[in-house]
Amino acid sequence: MERIKIGSEEHGRLFCNVFVDTHRPFRAQDIRWPELDEVGLQRLKGLPVWNEAARTEAATAVKVQTLGEEETDPILKEAIALQGYEEGRHAEIIALLTSHYGIPVAPAEEPGRPKNPTWTFLRTGYGECLDSFFAFGLFDLGRQTRFFHEDLIALFDQIMQEEARHILFIVNWAAYLRARRPLVLRPVFDARRAWNVTAQAFDRVKGAMQMAGGNGASSEGTQDGFTLKSHTAFGDFTLRSFLELCLAENERRLAIYDTRLLRPTLVPGTVRALLRVLPRKKPGLGTRDSGLEPK
Ligand SMILES: [Fe+2]
Ligand SMILES: [Fe+2]
Repeated sequence: MERIKIGSEEHGRLFCNVFVDTHRPFRAQDIRWPELDEVGLQRLKGLPVWNEAARTEAATAVKVQTLGEEETDPILKEAIALQGYEEGRHAEIIALLTSHYGIPVAPAEEPGRPKNPTWTFLRTGYGECLDSFFAFGLFDLGRQTRFFHEDLIALFDQIMQEEARHILFIVNWAAYLRARRPLVLRPVFDARRAWNVTAQAFDRVKGAMQMAGGNGASSEGTQDGFTLKSHTAFGDFTLRSFLELCLAENERRLAIYDTRLLRPTLVPGTVRALLRVLPRKKPGLGTRDSGLEPK
């Protein structure tokens, strides 16, 4: 397999071009929202994600757009600005969806521009690596069980794939920045990156504990009393089968991009290590169609 030198001009061009070439142009306001029956509507309203998603996507858009404005390398600038545009489109889609279906969203403060856009982008990007890995698995559970209207599944699928492109970009961009620093400064970069990744992971653990307890800050953790206990809606699955599904989906979503690019390793690697020690029970959900389809 042809290799590429991480941090080279060629590497920089490759991860930016892959990102720009795989962008799908469409306008959020052109989305046609499907009519939902009462069950479908309640399922959508009951998802515990809307407050958090609206707030996070809007804040991420500002963070990424700020770096897009300040970046001086034209090739990086185009790709980062495009990613900022996609994050803004995610925020717009959530705003349109929640208003169309009458889902209440708690008002949030206007996100401010970051003081250090480079490190803010890096921190946010690693947060996305964590969130996306588990979101890929959760989304596929919803897809297999046809929990939502097929048009909404198709729309969410596209958003998931955009997040896959974002995390592919961030790990390559971070490695590119690191490789272009003088050797003596790399340990400082590594320490700062590790600190940011740890902070993001800690944030998620805190959020998950609040959700599992069903007592998350009501504006962020739970919505309409939906907690992690709602997994019953997706059938009986074990932690092992869920993690296997996340791994499989993560690989599937990233497999379509140029193999010379780096892939996220931290979360998948940690999960693989965890799977080695988790007890085995019954056959899992590690494949795309795992028998979860309704009869
Ligand atoms: Fe997003
Ligand atoms: Fe993203």
